[in-house]
Amino acid sequence: MVNASSLYAVVISGLVMAAPVTAETFDRGQALYENHCEACHDTGAHLRGERRATSISDIRKWVTTWGFHAGLGWSDEEVDDVTDFLNRRFYQFTVQP
Ligand code: HEC
Repeated sequence: MVNASSLYAVVISGLVMAAPVTAETFDRGQALYENHCEACHDTGAHLRGERRATSISDIRKWVTTWGFHAGLGWSDEEVDDVTDFLNRRFYQFTVQP
């Protein structure tokens, strides 16, 4: 059950963030990827038959490398978010313990 006060909390946090999308649908990894990575390759790069990335830690290495080349200075958390987005959307490797 969603009570009124938790509903208010969602509405208020949505306003405070002033994001173009609602808090529930906002995917930071996706937003970061679309802003910084898609200029060079569209998502097709991750769907090729001969993928470079073969595990979650591999994806993470690519994200770190490209983040570095693009001069983004991403935090570990941002790298994690983008890695997670790419894995969820394209690679679907099973989560490592
Ligand atoms: C300067 C252009 C450029 C930018 C910017 C760039 N990439 Fe790439 N990326 C490439 C190219 C070219 C390849 C293919 C490399 C290869 O096949 O050896 C690639 C490959 C990849 C792969 C491996 C795909 C596979 O085969 O599994 C990943 C993951 C990736 N990029 C993530 C990112 C992320 C995340 C960003 C944003 C931080 C980013 N890239 C930004 C050019 C770019």
